[in-house]
Amino acid sequence: MGCIEVAGRLWNGRRAAVSIADGVVAGGGLEGCRRYVFDRRHLVLPGAVDMHVHFRDWGLRHKEDMSSASLAALQGGVVAVGDMPNTVPHIRDAGLAKKRWDAGSSLPVEYRLYMGVPEDPEEVAKARPYVVGVKAYPADIERYGWDHVVETLAMANRLGLLAVVHCEEPGAMAEGPNESELLCAHELVRWAVARGIRVHLTHVSDPRTVELVQAYRPMITLDVTPHHLLLSREECVARHGRGPCYVRPPLRSREDRKRLFQSLLLGMVDAVATDHAPHGRDEKASDDPPPGICGINVALFLLLDLVRRGLMGLHDVVRLYSSRPRGLMGLRLGLEEGSPAGLAVVELVPGRVDPATFSGSCRFSPLEGLPTYGRARLVATPRSVYVDGEVVPYDGP
Ligand code: DOR
Ligand code: ZN
Repeated sequence: MGCIEVAGRLWNGRRAAVSIADGVVAGGGLEGCRRYVFDRRHLVLPGAVDMHVHFRDWGLRHKEDMSSASLAALQGGVVAVGDMPNTVPHIRDAGLAKKRWDAGSSLPVEYRLYMGVPEDPEEVAKARPYVVGVKAYPADIERYGWDHVVETLAMANRLGLLAVVHCEEPGAMAEGPNESELLCAHELVRWAVARGIRVHLTHVSDPRTVELVQAYRPMITLDVTPHHLLLSREECVARHGRGPCYVRPPLRSREDRKRLFQSLLLGMVDAVATDHAPHGRDEKASDDPPPGICGINVALFLLLDLVRRGLMGLHDVVRLYSSRPRGLMGLRLGLEEGSPAGLAVVELVPGRVDPATFSGSCRFSPLEGLPTYGRARLVATPRSVYVDGEVVPYDGP
């Protein structure tokens, strides 16, 4: 058996020691554990849970692979991720879901997977052991039509899985701010109400979408990304150029970004998720850049800077980027005795996003230069401990 003991100031202000034996939080009284003691410049938090990431690999290894993506997550204090199915090949059946799940189960970070919309909704039942949800893309709505997509989401619901939707009007993929997300959300709300299904809207970018779904929460839940909260399209493109700022859904105007941010502060949002989407530097600099921004390495510290500036409380950060997404994905993980470990010790130092220091394959991000507060010193997951950049097993040295 291997165990560690982490002593320091908890996020609720108490000083405490947390013992973890072979990845499970223990009641204390363990002998011979490796001991890590952190002073008052550090904070012991429930580890971050990022419910929307792209770990790539397979046919997209040139963008990122699963083990290096895990290091990016750990650097960001993230203990668990929900990975998206738009891999190459796209995961739409139980066979591929199992293959991906198997690959994920040996990673140092706790790995969960969403499957794509299959030809036959019954396939979701077969993939049930390997997935936490189904993810529908605009291309699925275009390919299968709303009826089929809604049938699949309803099937996910019946199986106790999350039904996640990237809402943009199929075919209306204009790059700049547009009505496409709001139009899709109207349609989805109509279906959800008519069929009585629970749906999670991911990376909501338009404050009007957030406002629209308020009346339907918690039947409809939603997450927002750090880039939609912190970057406006005008400012991003002026600083970084078009390619690095191109993402689906698109970055919005300065006014819309502010309104989205306000909605977060007002408690209108369930979760923050990064939609960490690495691409090659050359691809992003090309005339036809792929959409996507990476940021799992720093999301927690961008949020902690908002706490430092008095814009939100620490409990809001824990709710938005740990406990609520954890609950939505149906994970058991945290600091409570008996639960699989999910803990991050953050050293509270001011800084700025510097993608050159990112672990993983992402070396550039338009989040560059934004203020951060903190860096991860120790991250404990059910399988391993990450200490100052190194992953060690529980029974390690
Ligand atoms: O910007 C995006 N990037 N939006 C998506 O929906 C997909 C993602 C990716 O996989 O790169
Ligand atoms: Zn995504």
